[in-house]
Amino acid sequence: MQRPENLDLKDYLDQQIAQVQQQVGTQQVLLALSGGVDSSVCASLLSRAIPGQLTCIFVDHGLMRLDEGDQVMAAFADKDLHFIRVNAQARFLDKLRGITSPEQKRKIIGEEFIRAFEEEASRLGDIAFLAQGTIYPDIVESGGSAGEGKVIKSHHNVGGLPEDLAFTGLVEPLAGLYKDEVRALGTLLGLPDYLVNRQPFPGPGLAVRVIGEVTVEKLDILRQADAIVRDELDKLDQRPDQYFAVLTNSQSVGVRDGLRAYGPVLAVRAVVTNDFMKAEYAHLSHDLLTRVATRITTEVPEVSRVVYDITSKPPGTVEWE
Ligand code: XMP
Repeated sequence: MQRPENLDLKDYLDQQIAQVQQQVGTQQVLLALSGGVDSSVCASLLSRAIPGQLTCIFVDHGLMRLDEGDQVMAAFADKDLHFIRVNAQARFLDKLRGITSPEQKRKIIGEEFIRAFEEEASRLGDIAFLAQGTIYPDIVESGGSAGEGKVIKSHHNVGGLPEDLAFTGLVEPLAGLYKDEVRALGTLLGLPDYLVNRQPFPGPGLAVRVIGEVTVEKLDILRQADAIVRDELDKLDQRPDQYFAVLTNSQSVGVRDGLRAYGPVLAVRAVVTNDFMKAEYAHLSHDLLTRVATRITTEVPEVSRVVYDITSKPPGTVEWE
């Protein structure tokens, strides 16, 4: 894939629509939609290029943030595509039971994602093409080239689709774009801001932000606290580049209604960064931190204590895992 010198997004969109129409003809296309920027923009472009010929499988692993699964569905409700949501939380949690190692969690989620996707795809009968939201940096990094059928993009970096899926060809309409251009194209295609300008979110989702074993109860606590962190920091004029909550596996003593309480410690993480390779913790005001902590301990009574992570990267990473 060659990038034009001065890429005009409207021209790029027109060219890709024409190219996809020519490549696919009247055949069907399948896409694994994660709700991330790349797969969402890809789905939106294809629904415009080949209305009625695209099926999107959205494997909802139940590890997303508050209301996120519904938001992804809502964003595609008016698009001309066949949207399949697989509600798979139970099977993911079942596989994650008793698992505390972050690497093992990632591996299990990656494998389970492939299984859930394949099971659903096998019910659909023959589909000629697989679409992927591969973008230009993916191709540069993997040393491959789009359309050769070799580069199967890692789905959320948690595993990648198996290479033996029986497809005639790959459709990769974003392969000439950088990330900021993909976002701009998403806006051009009418996708909502919360999908187009989302912060990075790990493919294994909240499983890497619940430290230790992942359970429904812990996910619920984290989701509520995380929604408060995002709600408060969203209001800033100058927002950090990424902010979220982490449910640590430490317990601490507190006092609630005059009685001793014992509950988990919740950490707030917010970073400022250019490239996520290095990051500085965000110097949030004490007023803001107080508001966040007060809201969390009031609205999520299970949480006994809130701490703010003041570690930069390096030596810390952004995620706690
Ligand atoms: P770390 O924790 O390594 O994270 O400092 C750097 C950035 O990468 C994000 N991250 C991921 N993004 N799939 C992704 O697409 C993943 O599996 C994944 N894990 C971490 C992290 O949120 C941060 O922005």
